[in-house]
Amino acid sequence: MEIAEIAEIEIDTLLEAIKLRYDYDFTNYARSSLKRRIHGLLIKEKLEMPYQLIPRILYDEQVFDNFLAEMSVTVTEMFRDDDFFRQLKDVVFPVLSTYPFFKIWHAGCATGEEVYSLAILLREAGLLERAKIYATDYNNKSIDVAKQGIYSAENSKANEKSYLKAGGNKKLSDYYTKEYEAIKFNQELTSAITFAYHNLVKDGVFGEMNIIICRNVFIYFDKNLQNNVLNLFHQSSASKGFLCLGTKETLRFSNAKENYDVICEKNSIYQRKD
Ligand SMILES: C[S@@+](CC[C@H](N)C(=O)[O-])C[C@H]1O[C@@H](n2cnc3c(N)ncnc32)[C@H](O)[C@@H]1O
Repeated sequence: MEIAEIAEIEIDTLLEAIKLRYDYDFTNYARSSLKRRIHGLLIKEKLEMPYQLIPRILYDEQVFDNFLAEMSVTVTEMFRDDDFFRQLKDVVFPVLSTYPFFKIWHAGCATGEEVYSLAILLREAGLLERAKIYATDYNNKSIDVAKQGIYSAENSKANEKSYLKAGGNKKLSDYYTKEYEAIKFNQELTSAITFAYHNLVKDGVFGEMNIIICRNVFIYFDKNLQNNVLNLFHQSSASKGFLCLGTKETLRFSNAKENYDVICEKNSIYQRKD
């Protein structure tokens, strides 16, 4: 057996140990990025081989937390890809405005900037009171940050620009209070969103969602897991519901594409056919 094949067995064994001990299943994460992240953890733990991580992770929850942090890539920002938000505002909001009540699910919301961005635009369109917004992630630390709605003030200028480009018609600073180096979103926004733990690999459907947003998450999954999650989204969506995958992901090469009409190719915004 080649050394490379043995190294794969080491990784499989590590993933199996994590699954049995912590009920997190990374088997269907894209292998190349998975390996990079394991390598990152090896450096942090001053270890050389993946098998050495097995006892560390099994006996020390902190080491698992570090692994989850490596796997979570929580990079996000306010109004990330501003054109995506502009399309939601211009194309999807007019449909929402015909509903007395609607539900939105942000899956893989990280620390919440994306969902606050949407809530602000909904507020400006007079639609926030009609919305029930769920935002989920499998990293509880990120969810805790999101619930607080407190962020560094460092990016305020860039965020203000992106907000205007996304179609915001006030000032972003109207929605938060600033103290020293931090901003805190107003309670009107924080209380409009329900943040919760949800693992896309193993947890169940969210019923009758009118919009499902899941951006920059599929890139970490292999084809099988992507298809499973698309299935979950299909089961979770309401009649004529929107599925929004953002600029990095597309339905083009998936089995799910027959179930949707394309609303915006560039931002991968789709609408469920009935
Ligand atoms: C790069 S961030 C994307 C954040 C945000 N959607 C955006 O586009 O700005 C990827 C997020 O996916 C989450 N994630 C990865 N695997 C997941 C899973 N199986 N279930 C739920 N969330 C997951 C990570 O914890 C991380 O917060």
